[in-house]
Amino acid sequence: MPTDPAFSKELAAAPRLRIPNHLGVIMDGNGRWATARGKKRTEGHLAGVRALRGLVELCINYGVPNLTVFSFSSENWSRPAEEVSFIFSLLRRFVASDLQSLIRNNVHVRVIGSREGLDPSLVRLIRDAEQKTAANTGLNLIVAFNYGSKAELTEATRAVARAVARGELDPESITEETIAASLYTTGLPDPDLIVRTSGEQRISNFLLWQAAYAELVFVDEYWPDFNEATFLRVLETYALRDRRFGGIEARIT
Ligand code: IPE
Ligand code: IPE
Ligand code: MG
Repeated sequence: MPTDPAFSKELAAAPRLRIPNHLGVIMDGNGRWATARGKKRTEGHLAGVRALRGLVELCINYGVPNLTVFSFSSENWSRPAEEVSFIFSLLRRFVASDLQSLIRNNVHVRVIGSREGLDPSLVRLIRDAEQKTAANTGLNLIVAFNYGSKAELTEATRAVARAVARGELDPESITEETIAASLYTTGLPDPDLIVRTSGEQRISNFLLWQAAYAELVFVDEYWPDFNEATFLRVLETYALRDRRFGGIEARIT
């Protein structure tokens, strides 16, 4: 996706845009995008990877520090086996073909989700991408793959319970920080803004704990059609939101 960095920086500086510290994206609608064009669903997933490359570039150019993308949910296993294996092969291809450019662009990659049941070679590939980009200080790209928030909270609960059973943790001393530190997202700021494409208005088990105060923006475009214009529209919508976090509007004191 062509983005003119000078033009983008100028736009980002304009008051009508607000840049979130952490943007979460539910990349939905690949299948419908393909069907609407008489193509196979798998082609929609392929087009979805192109849109993801565009989003990464936009986040770099506009200075979004943290980006989490939902690429495969723990519930997506219920799809036909062929589609599931195509999505898995896409992740492999994305890492293989894009790792060098991510390194060049100073992107730090982290993959969140369960690694259980994943092919060991895929787990190695993920680890390799994380290690090779670990020292990068630019965009934090978090890929939610084989991710489900309820599974994440269940696993976190088990970890906390184990620490209690071992006598290392007093139940009374469990705080919100204890839970947050037991999630895959430990160390990351909570998302400020979550965008979902394709017109669906639900969270589908994405970052339930972390999104407690996220602004939600739903756009009608299918994920493969997401582009700079959509991105800017979303940031403009976000700029108009009044985030109160349970308090009162800042100017009514
Ligand atoms: C999102 O697109 C990608 C994944 C969930 C893997 P979908 O495949 O859900 O596309 P639709 O919602 O069926 O159109
Ligand atoms: C959510 O989309 C998961 C991803 C985008 C990876 P789904 O297409 O799986 O969600 P539902 O089934 O419509 O809620
Ligand atoms: Mg979908």
